[in-house]
Amino acid sequence: MKGTTVKNLSFSYPGDTRLILKDIDLEVEAGEFVCLLGQSGCGKSTFLRLLAGLEKPTVGEITQDGKMIEGAGLDRGVVFQSYGLFPWMTAGDNIMLALKQKYKNKTKAEHKEIAMKALRAVGLKDDVFNKLPKELSGGMKQRCAIAQAFSINPPVLLMDEPFGALDAVTRARLQDMVLELWSSTEDKKTVFFVTHDVDEALLLSTRICVLGQAPSKVIYDVKIPADRKPTRDTLFDDVEMMKLRNELIRYINRDVASHIE
Ligand SMILES: Nc1ncnc2c1ncn2[C@@H]1O[C@H](COP(=O)(O)OP(=O)(O)OP(=O)(O)O)[C@@H](O)[C@H]1O
Ligand SMILES: [Mg+2]
Repeated sequence: MKGTTVKNLSFSYPGDTRLILKDIDLEVEAGEFVCLLGQSGCGKSTFLRLLAGLEKPTVGEITQDGKMIEGAGLDRGVVFQSYGLFPWMTAGDNIMLALKQKYKNKTKAEHKEIAMKALRAVGLKDDVFNKLPKELSGGMKQRCAIAQAFSINPPVLLMDEPFGALDAVTRARLQDMVLELWSSTEDKKTVFFVTHDVDEALLLSTRICVLGQAPSKVIYDVKIPADRKPTRDTLFDDVEMMKLRNELIRYINRDVASHIE
């Protein structure tokens, strides 16, 4: 199957007996935009790190297009909340770093051209190429991180609360940009996108999975067919989407309450 398959996955951090994820089974088709919701500390970032190949399953396996994920790879782009840019390198060099590994046979000028294109695609000006991360605003850094992930054109994108630290307007712009980048290519990327924001999940995803409290598993899984996908303008007038919104919030709250008692 083309896509990501998680089979019987359980995970504890090495040297720690506490189970963080337990018995997760999930089949995600290529091209799905999956939002992962769940309370703080439930294991969303851990799950993303496993999908990225940065951690290994304690039990079970994760496959990508039928092949076991073993270690980080250029077929998976990762955007972390902390941007993941090296502070001592310019934005351009940060992007070129992955390009050099991905396109070993291309020249430096060709790498630069791809990096420039990626920066423009996320709405940044050419002069950002030579700027250090500390010279950029949070929103600009986030755009660079997204440009970096998209520039290697990976079939799978893993995004961990990428807009968590941004103001509402910048956040809305970047949400639209990611949706545009995702939907503009014919062979759509598979996206795993962690967020705390139910409305963001409703707006972006074709599928929403809620992770329960640790040891966590998927406690709610819903698909939003393409023809039901709301836009920013229609979301709050869409009765079905508002029902789903209430249901998602109920699920998350009930799960949290059951762990407090
Ligand atoms: N490197 C690590 N070693 C041991 N335990 C860890 C490590 N990283 C995270 N944990 C633990 O794993 C659990 C899940 O953490 P994780 O970061 O995956 O949660 P999260 O759902 O992403 O939370 P948040 O929404 O706050 O980002 C937490 O209890 C955390 O303390
Ligand atoms: Mg996290």
